[in-house]
Amino acid sequence: MKHFLKVTDFSHDEVELLFQNAAEFKRLGRHTPALLQRQSWGMLFYKNSTRTRVSFEVGLNELGAHAVMLSTGNMQLSRGETIADTARVLSRYLSGLIIRCYEHSVLEEFASAGTIPVVNALTDLTHPCQLYADLFTLAERWSPGEGEADVESLRGRKVAFLGDTACNMANSWILAAAHTGMEISLAGPAEFAPSQAARDLLKQADLPETFKFTTDAREAVRGADVVYTDVWVSMGNEAEEAARLSQMQPYSVTADLMAEAAKDAYFMHCLPAHAGQEVSQEVLDSSASIIFDEAENRLHIQKAILAALAGEPR
Ligand code: CP
Ligand code: NVA
Repeated sequence: MKHFLKVTDFSHDEVELLFQNAAEFKRLGRHTPALLQRQSWGMLFYKNSTRTRVSFEVGLNELGAHAVMLSTGNMQLSRGETIADTARVLSRYLSGLIIRCYEHSVLEEFASAGTIPVVNALTDLTHPCQLYADLFTLAERWSPGEGEADVESLRGRKVAFLGDTACNMANSWILAAAHTGMEISLAGPAEFAPSQAARDLLKQADLPETFKFTTDAREAVRGADVVYTDVWVSMGNEAEEAARLSQMQPYSVTADLMAEAAKDAYFMHCLPAHAGQEVSQEVLDSSASIIFDEAENRLHIQKAILAALAGEPR
C-alpha cells in the first residue's frame, strides 16, 4: 500500500506514467473507465478549499467511486477521539482517505495508523497534488507531440518563485525542481526565506540543495521560463496579515517584472489569487497566464494519482 504525502513519493519514472495516464484521462473526460468502481473514499478537510475539494470529488465520481465528505467540526475528532482511532475506524469502511490539514504530522499519523492509502490535499508543509498539476501543465506545453506531457521536457527549465518563499507551495516547488531537474530561484523578504523544512524534505529524498534564494525579485525572474507566486497570507497565517502584506509588496508580479523573464515565459499561481497583492490583474489576464489550465489539470492528474494508489475494490 502506498501513500501520496509529498512530491517525491512517486519516482521520476512513476511521475512519467502518471502524466501519460493524466493525459489519457483528460482526453476521455467523463468516459474514463470506472477503475475505482464501488469504492468509497473519505475527504477530510480541516481547512477551506474550492479547487481541491471539487476536483477530487468530480475525479472520484468519474472513476466510479463515491466521495464521503468529512469535516472535523462534526466528527468525534472535535470531542477528543484520537487520530489513530479515527484512522483505524475509517480504514474499515473506506478505500482511501484524502486529507487537508494544518500540521503535516497529522497527515502522517493518519497514514501510519490506518490501513488505506492517504493523499495529501495540502498541509502547512507541502501541497504535492498542486505541484503535479503544475508540472503536468508545463509538460503539456513543452512536449513536442500533441496531447503529450513528457516529464523530461521540464529538465533544465528555470522557475522563479516570488513572495512567501517559506510556504507550502515554495517547499513543494523546491522539492519538485530537484526531482525533475529544473532550476529554481526564489525571491522574497529575508524573514520568509526557504526554511529548514524545505532542506529536510530534500535531504529525506536524497536530493541536492540546488535552489537559489535572493531578496531581489528581478534577479530571480531574469530569464525564467516560469514565474510562479502564491498568496502572501496562507491559511493559518491570518494574524500576520498586515505585516506580511507590507513586507512582500516588492515581490508583486507585475507586467514590468514579467518583462525580465524569458520571452515566452508563463505566469502560474495555484489560486486563489489576490489581484493587486502578489500579482497584478494585468498579469493574471495576460496571454502568459495559464492559471485556469493549472486549475483544470488538478482534476486529470488527481484521477491518475487515485488510480495509481487504489487497491482492489472492497
Ligand atoms: N490551489 C488550491 O489548492 O485551491 P483550493 O484551496 O481552492 O483547494
Ligand atoms: N499557500 C496557500 C496555498 C493555497 C492553495 C495556503 O496554504 O493557504
